[in-house]
Amino acid sequence: MCEKSMIKKRYLHLTEEILKENPKMCEYMAPSLDARQDMVVVEVPKLGKEAATKAIKEWGLPKSKITHLVFCTTAGVDMPGADYQLTKLLGLCPSVKRFMMYQQGCFAGGTVLRLAKDLAENNKGARVLVVCSEITAITFHGPSDTHLENLVGQALFGDGASAVIVGSDPVPEVEKPLFELVSAAQTILPDSDGGIDGHLREAGLIIHILKDVPKLISENIEKCLVEAFKPLGISDWNSLFWIAHPGGPAILDQIEEKLALKHEKLKPTRYVLSEYGNMASACVLFVMDEMRKSSAKNELKTTGQGLEWGVLFGFGPGLTIETVVLHSVST
Ligand SMILES: CC(C)(COP(=O)(O)OP(=O)(O)OC[C@H]1O[C@@H](n2cnc3c(N)ncnc32)[C@H](O)[C@@H]1OP(=O)(O)O)[C@@H](O)C(=O)NCCC(=O)NCCS
Repeated sequence: MCEKSMIKKRYLHLTEEILKENPKMCEYMAPSLDARQDMVVVEVPKLGKEAATKAIKEWGLPKSKITHLVFCTTAGVDMPGADYQLTKLLGLCPSVKRFMMYQQGCFAGGTVLRLAKDLAENNKGARVLVVCSEITAITFHGPSDTHLENLVGQALFGDGASAVIVGSDPVPEVEKPLFELVSAAQTILPDSDGGIDGHLREAGLIIHILKDVPKLISENIEKCLVEAFKPLGISDWNSLFWIAHPGGPAILDQIEEKLALKHEKLKPTRYVLSEYGNMASACVLFVMDEMRKSSAKNELKTTGQGLEWGVLFGFGPGLTIETVVLHSVST
């Protein structure tokens, strides 16, 4: 099982001009869904195309070799979906097998890899193009005195798209694997109902984030690690390389403290958060990209900071945690 190539792209769709043209988007609860939908339905596939084009270029094989497409976005819904639009925009084969994941939220960067891994392992010769494309035009709102948690999202969220190609049995000398996806799991945290939720309303996607999200995640994360790494005989979390979803600084601080992680472990995650913000499903591939590039730049022997084993975490609505066990490859 190997993962091929990825690319990142920074993008901020909402400008002052757009907001002036759409003043209702700046109010907290004014009806504005049509204007938001008109933007994201067009722009999400276009942004995804930019990331996908770069990933395909680095992968090095013709796009006709792509057998499956997994497209993920939290921004908007449409029929036919963003997966269909991207197939057309990229000029993929019309018989590419598509999977559309709408409105999963921040944990979905792990979900798409779990799905792609299953597809690649169960369909000989499959090459799965995974694209995550997120635009905050669907969630952006002005402040409300009574809903302070609305500010949390506005402060943290950003736009971005990432793409990767996942397959089994890489073609020697042609495909250059970056990481191996060893196992993948998803779980709902106990007593976390409503920790993060989002509801599509006339005013757009209204996201609620409760204060105790960092506590809930940090108190439950070790159980996910134990379940994922027990089969490998690993229990030292500092021996792993870490690709965690950058949900927010408080989540990262509390995970670090709870697991006694060395500060450098979450550095790539913190870097992506500070440079690009929380881009929901698109984030973990940015962190992975940052990791493999900095590993090569620093002449470390593996794509995972010189280490062999690593973990990728997605955190999001539910609360839900996605845990992916990664194996690095030689740089
Ligand atoms: C939001 C955040 C960036 C603010 O960090 P900070 O500036 O260092 O400050 P604090 O964490 O101390 O919070 C500042 C204030 O906001 C409040 N606050 C934090 N999170 C809140 C939330 N979800 N809802 C309402 N208020 C919140 C705090 O209680 C505090 O209020 P106080 O000054 O009256 O005590 C940080 O709390 C964070 O990372 N939270 C997690 C975000 C999250 O859950 N993301 C999940 C998306 S996947």
